Amino acid sequence: MGDGDNMLQGKKIVLGITGSIAAYKSCLIIRQLIKRGAEVQVVITPSGKEFITPITLSALTSKPVISDFFSQRDGTWHSHVDLGLWADAMLIAPATASTIGKMAHGVADNMLITTYLSMKAPVFIAPAMDLDMYAHPSTQQNLRTLQSYGNHIIEPGTGFLASKLEGKGRMEEPENIVAQLEQFFSRQETLKGRKVLITAGPTYEKIDPVRFIGNYSSGKMGFALANECANRGAQVELVCGPVSASMQVVHPNIHRLNVESAQEMYETCMKLYPSMHSTILCAAVADYAPERVATQKMKRTDEDLVIRLKPNPDIAASLGKIKKEGQILVGFALETNDEEVHAQAKLRKKNFDFIVLNSLKDEGAGFRTDTNKITIISADEKKEFPLKSKAEVAKDIVDQLERL
Ligand code: PMT
Repeated sequence: MGDGDNMLQGKKIVLGITGSIAAYKSCLIIRQLIKRGAEVQVVITPSGKEFITPITLSALTSKPVISDFFSQRDGTWHSHVDLGLWADAMLIAPATASTIGKMAHGVADNMLITTYLSMKAPVFIAPAMDLDMYAHPSTQQNLRTLQSYGNHIIEPGTGFLASKLEGKGRMEEPENIVAQLEQFFSRQETLKGRKVLITAGPTYEKIDPVRFIGNYSSGKMGFALANECANRGAQVELVCGPVSASMQVVHPNIHRLNVESAQEMYETCMKLYPSMHSTILCAAVADYAPERVATQKMKRTDEDLVIRLKPNPDIAASLGKIKKEGQILVGFALETNDEEVHAQAKLRKKNFDFIVLNSLKDEGAGFRTDTNKITIISADEKKEFPLKSKAEVAKDIVDQLERL
């Protein structure tokens, strides 16, 4: 994107500053945001003030800096709720391990956290800490939690969590942070008015009241796609198999429908599909289900147990058959061998516009990981991408969708 695009003109940014040595870099962030026409309101934590003075920050932003719940001058209440409604984006830079932990767990003991919890706009977080703190499982888990809430983590490099730690911990450079905000706003309205159906997670096929046939899908890839489409303004129907309770979506553009079996997912998708502009089938759908479901818990015997399976409906192929002119259908292929041959066959058989291939041979790709490595294959092209966070992979997939 060129400098002239100026996606930040008129944007209202709440800048959260916390107690890190990198707090001085917030001044450079403010200068760059204001140069691009943004309005900046600083909210600083008590320890942030140990590193940079509110006087400097208010001089740069031409606004009083907010730190306390009540103004020290006249005792008026600072409304975090109003700030949450006012902002087009919230950026927390630098974000310490402590603030990241409080954000992940809703520990609302300062103005910055209450503002975060009331925030209606997208939130960007630029971590800043030493490498050991950054690499600690609790920090990594908190960052993953924030990412699952749809927050954007801005890190040096390609933005993976945990899988590659060199150079991590240190805050990303101010110009790159501002560039990520610009990029976000440039994509923001690109799917406005579009309806997108996304399937995510596994399906469970009941054997008896306590057992099922399932798979390892966590829903992370599908949720990342839902967040990305919603951030770009689409209205998202997220049809979700049984995923862990920690998998939450908070974006107001996302309507989540929980299902359990492939049959339920099929029926829900068939109902929604005719009114959709685009559909991305990311769920790992069981191809077979037990022919009969035992009504009582099956008892152990010393005999072999045979469970007869019947094929489930192929959701993708069914939607591919009724696809209308102008509708876009995107599928995934999860392979373990002869990846491209299988992906090409699925692309044609299921009438996809393109297919996203991921292979279990690639470390960090596929089920449960926070990263994925994909190849996008369509009838006339093939694009390979490096290992990235699922949030970044979702951007590549939705960029491709927008190109059609
Ligand atoms: O959820 P995560 O832990 O983040 O993992 C992500 C993922 C690995 C599940 C995801 O990236 C992925 O690859 N999803 C598709 C998995 C799969 O079932 O692939 P498949 O090759 O078996 O199916 C091909 C396509 O047909 C898929 O789009 C699938 O959703 C669809 N399908 C399959 C069977 C069926 N009965 N109905 C379908 O619609």
